Amino acid sequence: MLIDTYGRVATDLRVSLTDRCNLRCTYCMPEEGLQWLAKPDLLTDDEIVRLIDIAVSSLGIEEVRFTGGEPLLRPGLVGIVERVATLEPRPRMSLTTNGIGLKRTAAALKAAGLDRVNVSLDTLRPDVFKALTRRDRHKDVLDGLEAARAADLTPVKVNTVLMPGLNEDEAPDLLAWAVKHEYELRFIEQMPLDAQHGWKREGMVTAEDILASLRTRFELTPEGAGDRGSAPAERWLVDGGPHRVGVIASVTRPFCAACDRTRLTADGQIRTCLFAREETDLRGALRSGAPDEEIAEIWTKAMWGKKAGSGLDDPTFLQPDRPMSAIGG
Ligand code: GTP
Ligand code: 5AD
Ligand code: SF4
Repeated sequence: MLIDTYGRVATDLRVSLTDRCNLRCTYCMPEEGLQWLAKPDLLTDDEIVRLIDIAVSSLGIEEVRFTGGEPLLRPGLVGIVERVATLEPRPRMSLTTNGIGLKRTAAALKAAGLDRVNVSLDTLRPDVFKALTRRDRHKDVLDGLEAARAADLTPVKVNTVLMPGLNEDEAPDLLAWAVKHEYELRFIEQMPLDAQHGWKREGMVTAEDILASLRTRFELTPEGAGDRGSAPAERWLVDGGPHRVGVIASVTRPFCAACDRTRLTADGQIRTCLFAREETDLRGALRSGAPDEEIAEIWTKAMWGKKAGSGLDDPTFLQPDRPMSAIGG
């Protein structure tokens, strides 16, 4: 079991498969991209499957989410999903993606055993998409979303970050669109995890702002009386339901006390938290021939050191050394 000193148990493993991405969202990375990890530093497909095997068979992991960078850029993704689907006990599997390439891969991912996908989309306007992501791929994302629904990778969730002066006014339009297409929309507060270290609290659209904007057009009723368990999104029924909308208020209403996550980076480092300042190396142990028990022990010890929360409200808060794209979203 992966338990920390606050009694939280990690059952959700997030695996970053690559730090690369085919978009260049301005709030994430610079135009020229980043210094990507070198191939020999990346875990191989075999190493990833072995670590997931240890996590589900000995450490109590029940759900595996593949992230990036952009996980669809990993050539072995379908094969990895296929192999993880044969593990005992079989974990639930999901994918967080920008949606480009889903049109081509959704059916194969479903056949391999993937359960569901979360797709990032910040705007319905192709011109705003192009300015924001520095790539003209809006239609590819919309096609990818359709393909995910057609392949039954459901519920298909859509993640949206709102930014002032760019797409902040789109919240009600995005919700109307999501309801029509049966996607579950979640708005995410922007966190200080950008490569450029340009985040400012004053420049963030808050959960409160988002809800006020949505309420100009929809009636929202809280679902589950504020009890969201370990789920990061607080959810509301839209106009009485059954459609819902979520808000992930990582900054103004953090869910750290209920956190059930552990993370593995593409180069084989365990992170106990998105905002962790330390990492624990598993790749070295793997490559020096450590048995499963030893790897499980290193992982268990690392999680015991998990901090109470993100530390975002501490006056001494320091952004983690790696940006979100290299940690895994
Ligand atoms: P499901 O609701 O189960 O689909 O998972 P999820 O919401 O965790 O998945 P997803 O990968 O789509 O994450 C959505 C957003 O939640 C991310 O873009 C992050 O902004 C935020 N997030 C994900 N993991 C963490 C975390 O560990 N801590 C914090 N503070 N935010 C996170
Ligand atoms: N804060 C919040 N969400 C972010 N994402 C990327 N960077 C940040 C950030 N700094 C989102 C993407 C995508 C998801 C994986 O993470 O928009 O939806
Ligand atoms: Fe968990 Fe850290 Fe995310 Fe808080 S910020 S929810 S502790 S991973």
